[in-house]
Amino acid sequence: MSKRDPRHFASAGGVEGQAGIVPRPVTFTRIRDGSPEEFATVMESLWTLTGNLPNRILEALRESADEGVGGYQVNRIEHMLQSATRAHRAGESMDYVVAALVHDIGDIVAPYTHGEIAAAIIKPFVEPRLTWILKVHPIFTMYYYADFIGADKNAREKHRGHQWFDDAVYFVENYDENCFDPDYDSLPLDYFEPMVREVFSRPPRFD
Ligand SMILES: [Fe+2]
Ligand SMILES: [Fe+2]
Repeated sequence: MSKRDPRHFASAGGVEGQAGIVPRPVTFTRIRDGSPEEFATVMESLWTLTGNLPNRILEALRESADEGVGGYQVNRIEHMLQSATRAHRAGESMDYVVAALVHDIGDIVAPYTHGEIAAAIIKPFVEPRLTWILKVHPIFTMYYYADFIGADKNAREKHRGHQWFDDAVYFVENYDENCFDPDYDSLPLDYFEPMVREVFSRPPRFD
C-alpha cells in the first residue's frame, strides 16, 4: 500500500469517523512544539489531502447544483457546465475549459469575492493568465448588468492596460454572461471529470 494511500493512515493506527481527529495524531497541541518526526506524519497526511483534491473539486461542483437558482433560469452547476462546454466547443485548451468549469465555484462561500476564490483554487495548476481572468471576471461581468442595479458598468476600466484585459473581456463575453440559457445542451460533469483530474493532480506551482 502506498504511503500516499489514505488507507495507509487507518492501518497505521489512525482514528476514523471522528470529526476533528486526524489519523495517527501527533502529541503537540501547538505547532511550535512539534518535532521533525511528527511533521513527517503531518506532511504525509497533507499528501492524502492534496491527492484527494480532484474529488473535492468535483464534489463542490456537484453540490453547487443544490444551491438554488439565485434568480436565474439555471443553477450554478448548469451555468458552469455551460461555460465549460462553450469553451470546449470553441476549441479552448483543457486548462481553459477547466478554469471555465470552476469559475464560480466560490460563489456560495464568497459571494462578494468569488473570483478570488476560483483564482486561488486553480492558481497552482495553470498559467497565470487563466488565474488572472478568473480573479477579475466578476468586475468584467458587471459591464453587462451594472446599469440594472445602479452600479458602475465600467468598473473594469481600472484594469485597462493590463496585458490580459482583452482576455478577460473575451472570457466573460463568450463563456460567462451568455451562459444562463436553460435550453443550451451543456455537456455533463462526467465529461469534464478526466480534465479536472488531470489539471488538479499536477505538481503544484508556487509563484
Ligand atoms: Fe462569477
Ligand atoms: Fe459566471
